[in-house]
Amino acid sequence: MDEKQAAVEATMRAAPVIPVVVIDDVKAAVSLARALVAGGIPAIEVTLRTPRALDCLKAIASEVEGAIPGAGTVLTPYQADAVEKAGARFMVSPGAAPGLLDAAAASPVPLLPGAATASEMMTLMEQGYRHLKFFPASQAGGPSYLGALSSPLPQVRFCPTGGVSAANAPDYLALPNVLCVGGSWLAPAKRIAEEDWAGITQIAAEAAALNL
Ligand code: 3PG
Repeated sequence: MDEKQAAVEATMRAAPVIPVVVIDDVKAAVSLARALVAGGIPAIEVTLRTPRALDCLKAIASEVEGAIPGAGTVLTPYQADAVEKAGARFMVSPGAAPGLLDAAAASPVPLLPGAATASEMMTLMEQGYRHLKFFPASQAGGPSYLGALSSPLPQVRFCPTGGVSAANAPDYLALPNVLCVGGSWLAPAKRIAEEDWAGITQIAAEAAALNL
């Protein structure tokens, strides 16, 4: 396995859940990341869906001890470059496009690209990928669909994301081809707005215990 695949595997094994974060306030992003790390969830995917997402990522990378900062919703080569400069240690995309894959190949930051069909997965396998995001997990077919791919594609390990919750995460985590799941339920907008960091640490601790 190449170095970047090994690095992304280590990130996926750091905890059972990678929180998918949509945030635009740098101070809140740092507090949120500290709350997640305190609950045992180090890898954090900051999605590039807000104007200040890159600043949030940068602040987490430089200020939050123990965090593994990552960038989500990386769609373009320009974004792949920007998240590297912001300190991302992994990047996630909902799918895979040739330009982004070229940029990822040239970047030191490992990419976890999204795939939902056997053909998409095989195309990424041809490019050396062994770790993929299964997206949108629940809408595409859920645990039974993903489990059906483990026999023909045993080399691939997944992070299912999209419609994953505390209630259905164990069904995904029980699959032989799943290392972790991704989801936004660890960073609810309401708790962030209320600055309920203790509440978020509690949700994170429950997520961290999912594999135990
Ligand atoms: C996303 O891209 O928004 C993620 O897949 C999170 O999905 P969720 O909100 O269903 O967890």
